[in-house]
Amino acid sequence: MKEIAQHLIAWYHQNKRDLPWRNTQDPYKIWLSEIILQQTRVEQGTPYYLHFIETYPTVFDLANAKDETVFKLWEGLGYYNRCRNLLATAKIIATNFKGVFPNDYETLLTLKGVGPYTAAAIASFAFNAPYAVLDGNVFRVIARYEGIDIPTDTTVGKKIFEERAAAMLDKKRAGLYNQAIMDFGATVCKPMAPHCNACPLQKTCVAHATAQVNQLPIKEKQLIKTERRFYYFLLQVKDEIWVTERKHKDIWQGLFEFYLLDAGKKMLWNEVAAQQFLKEQLGLSSIKLLHRSSEIKQTLTHQIITAQFIRVSLSKKPASLTAGKWQKISKLKALPFPKLIHQYFSETFIW
Ligand code: ADE
Repeated sequence: MKEIAQHLIAWYHQNKRDLPWRNTQDPYKIWLSEIILQQTRVEQGTPYYLHFIETYPTVFDLANAKDETVFKLWEGLGYYNRCRNLLATAKIIATNFKGVFPNDYETLLTLKGVGPYTAAAIASFAFNAPYAVLDGNVFRVIARYEGIDIPTDTTVGKKIFEERAAAMLDKKRAGLYNQAIMDFGATVCKPMAPHCNACPLQKTCVAHATAQVNQLPIKEKQLIKTERRFYYFLLQVKDEIWVTERKHKDIWQGLFEFYLLDAGKKMLWNEVAAQQFLKEQLGLSSIKLLHRSSEIKQTLTHQIITAQFIRVSLSKKPASLTAGKWQKISKLKALPFPKLIHQYFSETFIW
């Protein structure tokens, strides 16, 4: 048996975190936990997982749920394509697979939202099939342990890391080993300030011996993020605010938002500027500024959104606003909104 696997499993027995999806072999629950954990850290993801499992104990319950209700439960996790894939896959499992999750890697890969990592995780955790998981944690552990300075985000790099991951796997205890290396990467061999002094692999770690721990792993492409400026106008008439669903193929598809100016640059909004802009847009003249929020930022994978919220009261509903709907302020929170709008709710107002 490979020495590294033995060390990692021994370390895991002593140090493993007691996480709810580890007490089950149910592939539905494992799949659900993995989809949620693609999206967020364990601490933040755990309550979401528990809430989902409680609301939808089986794949049939999820498949039969209303899309909007599931979106609401997903709210705060962001990246709603994952949620759409989750629903699509639940429906396929419920109908095409009669509710029984496939137990082989290749079939798992055909499911929407299930890539090589998730297929290996489900196959190994639920069925102990001999597939090595390769996520950010595993890339880091391997790059450091073996001193591999080939960029992880290149075709050549991926292939080498896949081979090394497969070679290191304890095939008889694939599920256990995969959990061990991921947990080890998340808590000991961390991206910053790793705990080398408490590391069971220290003696044979190439990066440690050559003082390269902080340089590895290497990425070729630095992700350049686009900066966007969103100005949201909350148009209020009596106790209602205008909202609309984002339908286009941009971020936040299927979520609700307010009247948006998607500006390419920073703008300053005083009462006169807001009145002038809305008068032009909506053909209304009686506009009163109620509140301007501070800037709220949300960082996505490829972009940084900076938003400001400008709440105004209008004397009547503008006839030019044909799309969207007027929602009672007391019912606003029943709609699914992006995280950034939620942050605005929690920072700014008692609604
Ligand atoms: N991150 C992704 N999957 C995980 C799992 N099963 N346990 C802990 N952290 C994870």
